[in-house]
Amino acid sequence: MRQLLLSASIAAALGLVATGCARSPGPEPSSATPAAQPAAVAETITDEHSYAEPDKVRTTDLALDLAVDFGTKTLTGTATYSLAWLDKDAAQLVLDTRDISIRKAEGLSAEGQWSELKFALADEDPILGSKLTIEAPEHPTQVRVTYSTSPEASGLQWLEPSMTEGKKTPFMFSQSQQIHARSWVPLQDTPIIRFTYSANVKAPADAMVLMSADNDPAAARDGDYSFKMPQKIPSYLLAIAAGDLVFKKIGERSGVWAEPSMVDKAVAEFIDTEKMIETAEQMYGPYRWGRYDLLVLPPSFPYGGMENPRLTFATPTVIVGDKSLVSLVAHELAHSWSGNLVTFATDKDAWLNEGFTSYVENRLVEALFGKEQADMETAIGRAEVIEEYKTLEPKLQRLALKPGDLADPDNSSSATVYQKGAWFLSFLENRFGREVFDGWLKGYFDRHAFQGMTTTRLVEDLKQNLLAKNPGKVTEAEVIEWVYEPGIPANAPKVESRRFSTVDAARIAWTGSGMLADKSITDAWSTQEWVRFLEGMPDALKPEQLRQLDASYMLTGTPNGEIAQRWYPLAERSGYAEARAEMGKFLERVGRRKLIMPTYKALAETQDGLAFARQVFAKAKPGYHPITTGSVQAVIDAATAKADSLPATAAPARPAAAGQTMQVPETLHPSDPVPPPAETQ
Ligand code: BES
Ligand code: ZN
Repeated sequence: MRQLLLSASIAAALGLVATGCARSPGPEPSSATPAAQPAAVAETITDEHSYAEPDKVRTTDLALDLAVDFGTKTLTGTATYSLAWLDKDAAQLVLDTRDISIRKAEGLSAEGQWSELKFALADEDPILGSKLTIEAPEHPTQVRVTYSTSPEASGLQWLEPSMTEGKKTPFMFSQSQQIHARSWVPLQDTPIIRFTYSANVKAPADAMVLMSADNDPAAARDGDYSFKMPQKIPSYLLAIAAGDLVFKKIGERSGVWAEPSMVDKAVAEFIDTEKMIETAEQMYGPYRWGRYDLLVLPPSFPYGGMENPRLTFATPTVIVGDKSLVSLVAHELAHSWSGNLVTFATDKDAWLNEGFTSYVENRLVEALFGKEQADMETAIGRAEVIEEYKTLEPKLQRLALKPGDLADPDNSSSATVYQKGAWFLSFLENRFGREVFDGWLKGYFDRHAFQGMTTTRLVEDLKQNLLAKNPGKVTEAEVIEWVYEPGIPANAPKVESRRFSTVDAARIAWTGSGMLADKSITDAWSTQEWVRFLEGMPDALKPEQLRQLDASYMLTGTPNGEIAQRWYPLAERSGYAEARAEMGKFLERVGRRKLIMPTYKALAETQDGLAFARQVFAKAKPGYHPITTGSVQAVIDAATAKADSLPATAAPARPAAAGQTMQVPETLHPSDPVPPPAETQ
């Protein structure tokens, strides 16, 4: 855990601050008082989740030489770091690792000689992993570490052939964000540092290897692959995958990698990708990464998507046949500006990546699929904030987290980071008008390209380049409230959706009179309309009401994960046992954390449900990614600890009275009473 106080000149040289800004030491603002904001800010940047010492030495380039071994489920080889020594008194290179065996460390002298260096691997911290300290008092220009990963590496998943579409070839993929790169490469695992990288990777001849780099669609599948990533990236964007993967073109710069049986479906779903790149470029300036390809992973991928540069990793669960979930592509593509180009300096400022990206995502959806679609997605996102803030502890409702707020970076509040973040930018857009705001945002991406960003710097940029130039629109106090205070400010803009009004009316009519909307209406509903229909339901219904819904709409067994994510918890809380079999299959088939956690949580509310959850988890676990396993295990453990006080089965629902549906308020004011803290997902 390192502190870094940079002088303006060193920081500028390292690309950490906008050049030309005079900066003096000052604390990160912690109160809502605008006067507490210094005019020019130099800040102490601390990454609580890394042992690296970026104030002493920095990796400028990483060269990997690795062999993929599906038999032992390991990567073995060397990592060579080119180093910039910043502190003449530094005597060590400190790297982050997790579950890695280190065989050797060597240093390259100025004379070109490699010699062995002493190293020590500290005991493992459950969240941070093991600190690797390499003695390097002579400041070698390069250090090389020979290592092997563990089959349990938290950032890799090794899939047996049976867990793939084709069932013939094994599969392997990485997920480095937030702090899992260190489980497959020993490195300075903090976004404070950016580096270029290259790799040579050997794999069995039937596996195609891809990385977050210059994948060549025409590369021979010969078991020997080379990669180059010429742009500087933070460590969490390091990525690798290997399996039976083929490529199909979408446009000049874009295409899909997938298992052979998936690739056509994926291309059809993602056919608008090239247009999306063009639209984003018109709005935010050139796409700076060369190609933009998508890699469709097996359903155990723990996230929806991951913005690995040049090669977005994507869950197959968004391929639903009607393009209704391609906002995922818009999202991951948007990260090419917000995140990969302008990167949060540490994960305390995750909203600078995800909030900005969610905003841009919605703008792309609007440009490509129209305002109605964009508004529905916005309304769903905002309802999630309102819902989550009923139980979320206030400190996690702040966009800018304070030191110590987030113990495990895999568990941030997505409502805050994604939705409140995007909501804030919509607020600015509304007040300044689209043209002015778009101009500022494009300028922001240019001013800070390939640099680290903090909330303090963002606020500074907003003040200089948006507020001061367009006086009378937004006060500094309003900005500070959005950024540093919990809750959603009262001045938050509202969104209206005509199509959602129809859905709400259909739900209210049904809960009131039992009359279901005609199939001719619901047949035209998109994923978002079904999500709205289900999210507005009371906490629990009567089993016969669910039976009625199922008879008309066949929700149990739905192939759409977004619908399943809402339907199965409702079914479980309503004691609708007929859904259990399909629910179990869903939990076994899909490993995407966001989609399955609500169902595990609902099951964990009763003794009977918990027993079922344990059974399903035991079967599903060999196919889950370590990140998903950790989250499910935590829910089961917490429920087990209080099992005696759990009700035996779901309580029979009170009959739903007319109009008794959840209200979806548009805003939650910070002065509204905040309920007691709860675990985040
Ligand atoms: N960068 C995130 C995924 C991530 C965030 C991984 C934090 C680990 C820690 C990615 O861009 C993302 O936001 N994915 C979403 C997609 C959705 C918002 C369309 C997801 O996985 O649900
Ligand atoms: Zn994202």
